[in-house]
Amino acid sequence: MADPPIFGFFCTSIVLLSLLCLSSAANTLSSAQSIGEGETLVSPGRKFELSFFSAGSSKNGFLGIWLVVSPKTVVWVANRNSPLTDSNGTLEISNEGELVLLNRSKSVIWLTNSTKVLRNPVAQLLDSGNLVLRERNSLD
Ligand SMILES: *[C@@H]1O[C@H](CO)[C@@H](O)[C@H](O)[C@H]1NC(C)=O
Ligand SMILES: *[C@@H]1O[C@H](CO)[C@@H](O)[C@H](O)[C@H]1NC(C)=O
Ligand SMILES: *[C@@H]1O[C@H](CO)[C@@H](O)[C@H](O)[C@H]1NC(C)=O
Repeated sequence: MADPPIFGFFCTSIVLLSLLCLSSAANTLSSAQSIGEGETLVSPGRKFELSFFSAGSSKNGFLGIWLVVSPKTVVWVANRNSPLTDSNGTLEISNEGELVLLNRSKSVIWLTNSTKVLRNPVAQLLDSGNLVLRERNSLD
């Protein structure tokens, strides 16, 4: 009867490993990347998630930050006053180093307006629920 506990331990290790891989995968967005429909940024401690969502039965699409733990709550919406009319929005970092939300025809729906010019910007979702745009550093 020694096998089941070992097997159980083995499975647990695999689950832990895949959780580690997932959580290191995506809390930052660099200028070469974009976030589309169905893709997310997750804060390092998995408290907050940034993703597209649609409200109620409407087809209107929004980009928001969610509190992941129950009750799942939207804490911030980028384009509250200008919903995406079809989903298919993308979030990316523009050549000017601003975060921009584009609709399917690549029109700018929302953008940040930072005063500081970043040479090598990355956007990072923090465990505080803040999305920060900052210079890439050696820790990335
Ligand atoms: C994105 O646009 C295509 C048409 O270009 C459409 O077929 C697809 O359903 C859209 N995706 C979403 C998630 O709305
Ligand atoms: C994208 O946004 C522009 C400007 O608001 C709008 O004219 C255009 O129809 C939108 N495209 C789509 C596919 O929703
Ligand atoms: C960005 O900020 C400047 C100064 O605060 C303001 O004049 C400008 O209209 C803003 N641009 C956008 C696109 O919000």
